[in-house]
Amino acid sequence: MKKISLVGIICLVLLNIGVIAQDNSNKNKTDVRIDSLLQHMTLEEKIGQVTQYAWHMTMTGPEGKEIDLQQEIKNGKVGSVLNLSGADETYEIQKIAVEQSRLGIPIIFGLDVIHGYKTIFPIPLGEAASWDIDAIERSARIAASEAAAAGIHWTFAPMVDIARDPRWGRIMEGAGEDPYLGACIAAARVRGFQGNDLSDPNTILACVKHYAAYGAAIAGRDYNTVDISRQTLRGIYLPPFKAAVDAGAGSVMTSFNELNGIPATGSDFLINEILKNHWNFKGFVVSDWNAIREMIAHGFAKDTYEAALYAIHAGVDMDMMGMIYSTELSNLLNDNIITENNIDEAVKRILRTKVSLGLFRDPYKYCSTKREHELLLHPDHCEAARDMARKSIVLLKNENNVLPLNKNIKSIAVIGPLADNKDDLIGSWSARGEGKDVITLLAGIKSKVSPKTKVLFAKGCNINDEDTSLFKKAIETAEQAEIIIAAVGESRDMSGEAASRAYLDLPGVQNQLLRELNKTGKPIIVVLANGRPLVLTWMSEHIPAILETWLLGTQTGHAVADVLFGDYNPSGKLPVSFPYAVGQIPVYYNHKSTGRPEVQNTRYCSKYLDIPNKPLYPFGYGLSYTTFAYSDLQLNKYEILVNDTLYASINIKNTGETAGEETIQLYIRDVVASLTRPVKELKRFKKIMLDAGECKEIGFTLSAADLGFYNQNMNYTIEPGKFKIFIGTNSENTLETDFVLLPDSLSETEK
Ligand code: NOJ
Repeated sequence: MKKISLVGIICLVLLNIGVIAQDNSNKNKTDVRIDSLLQHMTLEEKIGQVTQYAWHMTMTGPEGKEIDLQQEIKNGKVGSVLNLSGADETYEIQKIAVEQSRLGIPIIFGLDVIHGYKTIFPIPLGEAASWDIDAIERSARIAASEAAAAGIHWTFAPMVDIARDPRWGRIMEGAGEDPYLGACIAAARVRGFQGNDLSDPNTILACVKHYAAYGAAIAGRDYNTVDISRQTLRGIYLPPFKAAVDAGAGSVMTSFNELNGIPATGSDFLINEILKNHWNFKGFVVSDWNAIREMIAHGFAKDTYEAALYAIHAGVDMDMMGMIYSTELSNLLNDNIITENNIDEAVKRILRTKVSLGLFRDPYKYCSTKREHELLLHPDHCEAARDMARKSIVLLKNENNVLPLNKNIKSIAVIGPLADNKDDLIGSWSARGEGKDVITLLAGIKSKVSPKTKVLFAKGCNINDEDTSLFKKAIETAEQAEIIIAAVGESRDMSGEAASRAYLDLPGVQNQLLRELNKTGKPIIVVLANGRPLVLTWMSEHIPAILETWLLGTQTGHAVADVLFGDYNPSGKLPVSFPYAVGQIPVYYNHKSTGRPEVQNTRYCSKYLDIPNKPLYPFGYGLSYTTFAYSDLQLNKYEILVNDTLYASINIKNTGETAGEETIQLYIRDVVASLTRPVKELKRFKKIMLDAGECKEIGFTLSAADLGFYNQNMNYTIEPGKFKIFIGTNSENTLETDFVLLPDSLSETEK
């Protein structure tokens, strides 16, 4: 081991406080010691801490010279590295930072660990369909433990962008269209990644992204501008961020988009005012990749000098790959445009995080080849991934109870480009997951059926081209079987970043293939694998059974087979509406009313001439192999005061012949308000398991705080008057009653 420099030793001793960093009583001590470290740091070293580089990228510095990353680390010019992973690999680089740089400040290694590290869980939109908050937290915990063992300290997750537009490919990374469900899931993912103690080597730092309103990109085109009202920002797009910050998220990433004319990365309003001041966020803010520089293309900054100025003033603490802070902060300082204090504030936030992670105590604690070996793809992780995957599946249609299938069925034809496919099923953003570890649908089915069952396979076509030459073989194969399972959908790169689509039908000739298969007269079960809501209008009319399986990750085949053959009764519910046609987009359940709501057989009202207003499958929708009956919706009071709580109860009965799980959803509507309110807003949900024939009373408690909204003055207000309350199985199918909130010392509150 090389000698640690003298100042390096001083720093490690000074900062040997990682143990107590979580302890509030000692928080000041941490800050005092960070301050004294700052006094030892040169300006260059400070700027180093606010600079993040990607591993394995050829980067060119200001004079056009290639940057030697290892040399930069030795020079103390790098605070964080992204995209390097592996216990040995990160160890080597950490060693350079700790032993060869003047102050020995450890590097923080970041990676996009979005839905698993090596054991890949369903894409986040799929997980959201489980509405199972504990399972989602467990999934993030497992991802964290695997990533941490491979040297990663920091994940760029959770992505909590509300998305109302399925054309936007990044809808797959979030929790769908609803702010309440999104907030519950955002907090769960933060708890899962970070645990109770960031210095625990099984946890990693979360990074809530993309702040803010990235999902509102106009026309669903990635990186596009965003123009929304302040009320929509506060009421729809920000709640998941607030929930994640309240859950203790240690970092936040700015988004690429501009919001109402100001790029998010240069937005003093978003970062300083709301995040850091209003929400009291104590962690640090990182830009998205090159987003500081992109303020020039936005037409907001004239050059890199101005871009750096806007970002540092807005409160961006770390520059991800913009290479702007590294060149321009010192110029801004020399020109007295910023003060050293501006830079110190950012450095402090980053150092504090490194302390919380325990990196000053033991910079190598995350690099453990032993743990890496033991934990990656651990059987318990695979089992949890299988369970999460089953929970994420949504049964969209099941005419005449085609499903579940009998394991003794004589023959099955498994057809389609996603049937024997490994690489696509892990989905976009799959960290170090590999197709080779994926259980295909075909393999899952084969391992489930009786030894006598004949399982035939034909690919039928590719995912996204015009070639129909494989149709003939597919039809011949289908004709030999009792039933057809058609595995169709999108490839992994058709959703995720820079993957917007204008047509949302099945890509290529897959719909055509389905139509040909349908002509055989055999019952078809469609197993959809896709990263976003698709337009399923033809399918929903002609195909008897449809399973939405998203992109389920490593355990896909087993999870889908569990559902197909009834070992698991599907319980997923859509976290996002499925449009009837692309022309309807954006279509979401929590829309407002108009002055001319839709009326059948009336022309001059708000509707389309050619399609319904409603989506094909609404938010919260999903079937089970059993059925549930809702009755007897009651409130404990029909008039409440602002300090009262309201208890709403309902009876729910399993009216089928098999046990099943149901997600009971409670929505409200503020009937008349000073700003119009959505026709429905989700406020609570509960998952319960009921045996066949079993009946239970389920209750929810609401308080006045659940009834408020941001008013014209941007104050959170709760207004007296009539409210509707709806409880049911999805956002459209509910029972309803109403109550009155009495005027009693109500006032606007800042929230
Ligand atoms: C750009 C993406 O927008 C962001 O989500 C991701 O974390 C970074 N690249 C780093 O990979």
